[in-house]
Amino acid sequence: MITVSAPGKLMLMGEHAVVYGYPCIVTAVDQRLYVRAKKTDDGKITVDAPQSKETKFVDAAVAKFFVWRSQIPLRGTKGVSVKHHGVSLSIRSDFTSQVGFGSSSAVSVATIKALSLVFAIPMTEREIFDVAYQVTLDIQGVGSGFDIAAAVYGGTLFFKKGGEVIEPLPNEIPLVVGYTGVKADTPTLINMVAAKQKEYPGKVNKIFSAIGELVLQGRDALVTKDWERLGKLMNFDQEYLRDLGVSSQKLEDLISAAKKAGAWGAKLSGAGGGDCMIALHSAGGKPQITKAIQEAGGQVMDVRTHAEGVRSESEL
Ligand code: MEV
Repeated sequence: MITVSAPGKLMLMGEHAVVYGYPCIVTAVDQRLYVRAKKTDDGKITVDAPQSKETKFVDAAVAKFFVWRSQIPLRGTKGVSVKHHGVSLSIRSDFTSQVGFGSSSAVSVATIKALSLVFAIPMTEREIFDVAYQVTLDIQGVGSGFDIAAAVYGGTLFFKKGGEVIEPLPNEIPLVVGYTGVKADTPTLINMVAAKQKEYPGKVNKIFSAIGELVLQGRDALVTKDWERLGKLMNFDQEYLRDLGVSSQKLEDLISAAKKAGAWGAKLSGAGGGDCMIALHSAGGKPQITKAIQEAGGQVMDVRTHAEGVRSESEL
């Protein structure tokens, strides 16, 4: 029996534009999803996931793992065929799929890593990323893969679509995270932005390019821990996201409450429409911002950024 865990994520800057090839910054959070895996002799794959209604990402991750396995030369298994074995998987998570922390990406990554350990087939981080990204594309049809990268590599990453660039960045980020109570549907929002880009390519492409520029400046501010500057850049990013039409009244209420309470900057995080907002706080500023977000109707999620990527919790 082995247990593997993968972290959730928060997008710091660059959402939506990242789908069009511009960079983004994502950080892994210390809320984790756990997959326990046990080899069985019955040749069956069973999945127990009491916290979720469906297991399509786990099922697809298992299928993609075996496709990948069939395409690589034998390694690690000392000639043992994985075909004769089944596996039972049991999933548990610190966070629900409602909050937008990336439960689908975390479960895909943790499942693939768990299978590689159970069947003793070593996989590099890059291989886990590539196989798990295929799961996202198969099921959602769209997505940059930034959430998969956060689950695999952890920490904070400067990222480009499909893993064209995956560059680790230093430093934990002082964030307060406010949940709107509304579940966002990422593929719908991505498609909505795509429709807008088709209708107004000049305007929308300019927004993407401006967001990309902000991300480059945000990377420098983050590396030098210039939080005041990073906050301003996040505020500009939020203005562009509002122009794209992906913000919501609830997000705006929480963002403006956080800013009034002294946040360096605040913005939505992820696809928009709901899910979470993030506020960058100064050394002593966390309690006031927390209170302001709560008073504006948000649920504050107690998370730390820069968490470790996928890892084995135990091996028995
Ligand atoms: C969603 O959390 C972030 C988007 O940029 C989609 C993606 O990058 O896959 C909207």
